[in-house]
Amino acid sequence: MNIEGITIRCFEQNDRLLVEAFFQQMGGESRAFFDRADGNSGNALGFFDGKDTHVIRWMALYEGRMVGYVFLWDLDKMIPWLGIGVAEDLKGKHLGRQLMQTASDYVKTQGMGGILLTTHVANLRGQGLYERCGYERMGMHSSGETLYLLRFKG
Ligand SMILES: CC(C)(COP(=O)(O)OP(=O)(O)OC[C@H]1O[C@@H](n2cnc3c(N)ncnc32)[C@H](O)[C@@H]1OP(=O)(O)O)[C@@H](O)C(=O)NCCC(=O)NCCS
Repeated sequence: MNIEGITIRCFEQNDRLLVEAFFQQMGGESRAFFDRADGNSGNALGFFDGKDTHVIRWMALYEGRMVGYVFLWDLDKMIPWLGIGVAEDLKGKHLGRQLMQTASDYVKTQGMGGILLTTHVANLRGQGLYERCGYERMGMHSSGETLYLLRFKG
């Protein structure tokens, strides 16, 4: 099921309140798997302080709310890293797939080679999404998370 009326666009300078509200609505799963120790919220808010280097961030908007987030970093490398989160009330409706597509379309148009990500071994929903999107499970990353790689054809 795709949600009608979703817009996906890059972060803009006056989006701070939308981003803060997105992180505040997160429940236990998202906080545990995506925003442990406020790491991802801190980094996202860094955008507004001009701290981003080699990063691109998109939000999904629905009825005036930020309901999804995907970002890439290390864009000075041929294979950047990806992070993603979806609002509690819209999980399981294929917004995650739309956001993954936005990021991979961007990476392809930049002529890069693929995308890397890691996820917690217990994050079965995340793993389901990545495998659905064609990512290969590569084994354990040195962080203790599971490493996934998407490779583009040359
Ligand atoms: C992981 C997350 C981004 C997925 O987004 P989503 O919009 O809920 O996922 P989608 O509806 O697009 O699902 C895509 C695919 O994931 C898989 N999937 C979805 N929910 C699943 C579940 N509960 N268990 C296993 N696989 C699941 C399915 O294969 C699905 O595709 P299909 O329905 O066509 O078979 C979202 O649930 C989330 O924000 N989770 C908390 C934060 C997080 O874990 N971020 C990633 C950290 S690495």
